[in-house]
Amino acid sequence: MEKIRVENVSYSYQNKYQKIEAVKEVSCSFEAGNMYAITGESGSGKSTFLSLLAGLDCPESGKILVEGENLLEMDRDAYRRKQISVVYQAFHLFPLLNAVENVMYPMELQGISRREAREQAEECLQEVGLGKKIFHQYPKMMSGGEQQRVAIARAMAAQGRILLADEPTGNLDSENEEHIVELLKMLAHERDYLVIVVTHNPEVARQADVCMKMKDGRMV
Ligand SMILES: Nc1ncnc2c1ncn2[C@@H]1O[C@H](COP(=O)(O)OP(=O)(O)O)[C@@H](O)[C@H]1O
Ligand SMILES: [Mg+2]
Repeated sequence: MEKIRVENVSYSYQNKYQKIEAVKEVSCSFEAGNMYAITGESGSGKSTFLSLLAGLDCPESGKILVEGENLLEMDRDAYRRKQISVVYQAFHLFPLLNAVENVMYPMELQGISRREAREQAEECLQEVGLGKKIFHQYPKMMSGGEQQRVAIARAMAAQGRILLADEPTGNLDSENEEHIVELLKMLAHERDYLVIVVTHNPEVARQADVCMKMKDGRMV
């Protein structure tokens, strides 16, 4: 099923001195159940494109349709809370929350009771391969691979089925990278997520169902 359609989308950054066209007239579509990789040189517009899909920035022209609905006309806070999860290279866990609390966070935003949120959080952590030993640890005590798994567990705990990942394995060794890619593929293929991974790692791109490339703001 087509989940996201991007029609002729452009976006630029404007500062005092210049205008940088970061995304130029991009059109493409994304289906649930697939893992997409977006590759391209540094500065080619990948992160900007992802933040447009995440509803964090608005296209300057063109439109993004999510299940047929224009993102600009939707309640974008609700979209971000309910449909989208973003995983970053630097993990972005909450440093003052332990693993379970980090994963509980999106569920609490959705008004799920603490008890249920805790149960589901523990389940998600186990699904990404983290045992009880890690539940009450704080991010700074975890390895990079563990932190990224917690970040993915947190994405799974959100009710959305769109997962955007910006260089999710950028800070990991190859063994952990493999685990994370397997998890992302599992979410796409077994749970019908739409997974879009920005990566400059050819090995990660090779594992995707569809590989796309950006160059100078364009999808080529
Ligand atoms: N906040 C910003 N302000 C101004 N320019 C930016 C900002 N973020 C990114 N850019 C510029 O937009 C272009 C695309 O950047 P980005 O989307 O981060 O590319 P990538 O993720 O592919 O490295 C680059 O030229 C970058 O310098
Ligand atoms: Mg980037």
